[in-house]
Amino acid sequence: MTDLDTFITGLPKAELHLHIEGSLEPELMFACAHRNGIAIPYASVEAVRAAYAFGNLQDFLDIYYAGAAVLCTARDFHDLAAAYFDRAAADGVVHAEIMFDPQTHMARGIAFGTVIEGLLSAMAEAEAKHGITSCLIMSFLRHLSENDAFATLAAAEPWFDRITAVGLDSSEIGHPPEKFARVFAAAAAKGLRLVAHAGEEGPPAYVWQALDGLKIDRLDHGNRSLEDAALVDRLVGDGMTLTVCPLSNVKLCVVPAIEDHPIDRMLALGLRATINSDDPAYFGGYIADNFRAVAYGRGLGKADLAVLARNSLTGSFLPPAAIAQHLQRLDAFLAMH
Ligand code: HPA
Ligand code: ZN
Repeated sequence: MTDLDTFITGLPKAELHLHIEGSLEPELMFACAHRNGIAIPYASVEAVRAAYAFGNLQDFLDIYYAGAAVLCTARDFHDLAAAYFDRAAADGVVHAEIMFDPQTHMARGIAFGTVIEGLLSAMAEAEAKHGITSCLIMSFLRHLSENDAFATLAAAEPWFDRITAVGLDSSEIGHPPEKFARVFAAAAAKGLRLVAHAGEEGPPAYVWQALDGLKIDRLDHGNRSLEDAALVDRLVGDGMTLTVCPLSNVKLCVVPAIEDHPIDRMLALGLRATINSDDPAYFGGYIADNFRAVAYGRGLGKADLAVLARNSLTGSFLPPAAIAQHLQRLDAFLAMH
């Protein structure tokens, strides 16, 4: 390990953009398929990995939803999240805000409670085992209807005290944020925080809608905001946190190559960018791999990497006192490095 690798792994950081279904490694996919008696269209773990070549977001989503179909029991969701936490702990993650897609599972007859109970049990274990805190972001699938999102919000009601935020993911183009303005308002009225994917493939207009129509607290991706100077000014003025996912951006052809990634431009513009893994099992790396990718691909040094880690802590939904404690630990780490 180089000095920079050690620095990256040791940096105390929060992961703010992680789809738990996207952390399903092929080995666990096979194990769940086997124990649940579900057929999968791959002969081996190597064949699964070989299928992970995507021309755009939809190519990925088709494979991602097919993979998630092996997850059936609370044990499956527990094992999925436990494996993620083990990897995150090794990467210096101190806090994780985890998205899950209940509609993907409820459409297959899996109860909301099965999904969330499996995840919550792994979250409690991760806190005891690794000292990692975590919270849940329930994401609506934007290719489905507003009614379906409202039904999902209703199904989640018994667990509102265990859910921190709602999010919006899946196929972006053709499904603008405004489609979900009413359901986001209903979620906010229940005390939930709000995040949304916007500007990954969709135009800057979708980011404006996420801000003004959905009233988001945090922006997932947001890459295409850079095409609109007034939008950049607005995001900077709002102090909006962007959850940027460099390896995802390369795999889904949002940027041509990591060497072209605009992360340093975002920081130079004053945007509060963070580094995240999105769907690490599908995109070739966990959070430290994403930090390394921008460090080597864009020549970011320790000072920039520290800003990215700091932004992840200040942009989290942790209470202010917990954020202050994490920032003290970050400063202590930086003083030694
Ligand atoms: N974009 C949209 N939907 C998603 C993604 C993403 O990167 N990952 C999982 N669902
Ligand atoms: Zn995402």
